[in-house]
Amino acid sequence: MSDILKGKWIAPAADMGDICPMFTKQFALSKELEKATLHLTALGVYVSEINGERVGEFVLAPGWTCYPKRLQYQTYDVTDLLKEENLLSVTVGKGWYRGRLPGWQGSKRQTELQKNPAAVLACLEISYTDGTTETIFSDDSWKVEESRIRFSEIYDGETYDASFSAAEKQPVMVYNGPTNTVIPQEGEEVREQETVSPCCMFTTPAGEVVIDFGQEITGYVEVTVDASAGDEILLSHAEVMDQKGNFYTENYRSAKAKLQYICREGRQTYKPLLTYYGFRYIRVDRFPGGPEAAKPENFKAIAVHSQMKRTGYLKSSNSLLNKFFENVIWGQKGNFLDVPTDCPQRDERLGWTGDAQAFIRTAALNFDVEKFFTKWLADMDAEQGEDGFIGHVIPNVLDDAESSAAWADAATICPWEIYLAYGNPAILRQQFACMKKWIHYITVHTKDPYLWTGGTHFGDWLGLDAPSGSYKGSTNEDFIASAFYAHSTELVIKAGRVLGEDVSQFEELYGNIVKSFRKRFPVYHTQTECVLAAHFHLAEDCQKAADQLAQLVKEAGTKLQTGFVGTPYLLHVLSDYGYTELAYSLLLREEYPSWLYPVTKGATTVWEHWDGIMEDGGFWSSEMNSYNHYAYGAVADWVYCVAAGIRTQEQYPGYEKAVIAPNPDERLGFLEAVLETRHGVIRSKWEKEKDMWRYDIETPVETNIYISGKEYTVSPGRYVYYSSCR
Ligand code: BGC
Repeated sequence: MSDILKGKWIAPAADMGDICPMFTKQFALSKELEKATLHLTALGVYVSEINGERVGEFVLAPGWTCYPKRLQYQTYDVTDLLKEENLLSVTVGKGWYRGRLPGWQGSKRQTELQKNPAAVLACLEISYTDGTTETIFSDDSWKVEESRIRFSEIYDGETYDASFSAAEKQPVMVYNGPTNTVIPQEGEEVREQETVSPCCMFTTPAGEVVIDFGQEITGYVEVTVDASAGDEILLSHAEVMDQKGNFYTENYRSAKAKLQYICREGRQTYKPLLTYYGFRYIRVDRFPGGPEAAKPENFKAIAVHSQMKRTGYLKSSNSLLNKFFENVIWGQKGNFLDVPTDCPQRDERLGWTGDAQAFIRTAALNFDVEKFFTKWLADMDAEQGEDGFIGHVIPNVLDDAESSAAWADAATICPWEIYLAYGNPAILRQQFACMKKWIHYITVHTKDPYLWTGGTHFGDWLGLDAPSGSYKGSTNEDFIASAFYAHSTELVIKAGRVLGEDVSQFEELYGNIVKSFRKRFPVYHTQTECVLAAHFHLAEDCQKAADQLAQLVKEAGTKLQTGFVGTPYLLHVLSDYGYTELAYSLLLREEYPSWLYPVTKGATTVWEHWDGIMEDGGFWSSEMNSYNHYAYGAVADWVYCVAAGIRTQEQYPGYEKAVIAPNPDERLGFLEAVLETRHGVIRSKWEKEKDMWRYDIETPVETNIYISGKEYTVSPGRYVYYSSCR
């Protein structure tokens, strides 16, 4: 912990309304500088400059945490930015702290947070070469002025007036801001990651000028323009065009997602500083000389997300499948912006726990997400209720008082998956109390002992077997809740064993849950029920449950009907019990419903709904229809782990020892998975060579390789095997 808390929280003495205040401090260096370190945080999101240069690369700092309990501050080395005379500025927008979250209803927590002013807490430590030091703290000697950011909000966007200059600096007041919640930065920094240039520009049937970036991203547009002072640029953002080819924003719901810029004289470049957007298209509503005067060269899209090292790559002979893999990666980039969000565009963008647990295994294969999830799970721990309650979203800005099965089970699933992926038990240690308390919650809230009955749940959210008018699939909610009760208890047992804890009480509980489950749910009615019964080993006879699943899938016309709960495990159950070919049929299916159907409709990210755009080009709904929802991308884990066959061993997590058991399929000429683990790069490729499958496997660790039923235990190296195609 730095000395930041010796500083004072400061806020504008006079309220500036929607205008983002810019706090400034002028100071001079009297001696030769050796090092300068700035510690900084704000109530809102901030951007800081020293002598006109941006401090650090963190976008939307201080990030999003469970603010009533945890507020991060950042530490920047600013040695190179200082001169003899200096001006430090910090501009603060509403961000997640003071924004209108969630956009469709608001919440008690947010209403309280919104009562805070834009405020800053800072501490600049200066060391001179003569060994002396000096510290500048935020205090009432700072000044504040109206910045050029006239408005900024997460959902609604930003207004920037480049022709504005503040009349005068105004006094700040010391504010009684949070102190015991301030913590050093824990998560990954959110940064600008890559730029995307427009692929085309067109005029819609409605006569509007639209620019297509060819890729749905999360971030913002940078505009460069020659203009006269007072000229205006107004941009709207969208993910898709409607059936008639017109710009479509209804699915953003109340999120205005606008970028407004008032020009100064001359050539200038602007990008939003304190907000972000999820979009593929922009509509040019206003532009110097009229929207038609805009050119693609005026625009560049900048993708913004948490720092994550790419670790996983998939490639096959099927171009639609390859595009889908790319979409899964973009879905993750677009929704890993400090917290794992459901979507980046509409008035939601929240850390939905159900989506995170569904996708986490894939997430941890695609990218190194250990630090990202370690921070988010610490927020979950901080948010947990006395009785073990886990909110639907973390940070919890919803008012709901009841936990939902399969959403709140993120409490056990996420730490376990991070442990398996990276082999570091620290995450289990950090979360173990939270995991146990979650089991306690179920135990005291159920109507029937050893099951989880009653309560309010999201069910098999968006399952295709939903009764008309409902978002919830037909799978019995008590079934789902009880199955996850068992699964979570099992994970607590596993985690406890890793940590050397006494888990006998949970072992006993687990035995009782399984017994009660079998008694209460002897038969299954839906695909998701079969999936859960077999995958969580709850069925008396798991093979029979998987057989029934295969039967149901075939009877439906080789179609999945699963929602958020069943989908992540669907192909695993099929391949675990002898239906690998059927699993491939689902994976490679191109007609609705399937993973590849959206790709045939031009998707560049993963959709929330199997039929986000229907076969006739119409929309499923305007209310709940995101084109960047990563959850269904969870199937990629099956491709890494089963199709290419790369897995870690539970006793040697983090790929300290690996298993490679590839499962080729005739419909693909080849498949290659590359995974950069903490122990080196694992590669598994199979391809057809005449009537043989050729396997090319590279492993940096001791590995058990399984090729058509034969087992080889190998030391690090590269191995080639052949097996017959028949
Ligand atoms: C979100 C989902 C989330 C769900 C809860 C939706 O509004 O976008 O992804 O899990 O609510 O059922």
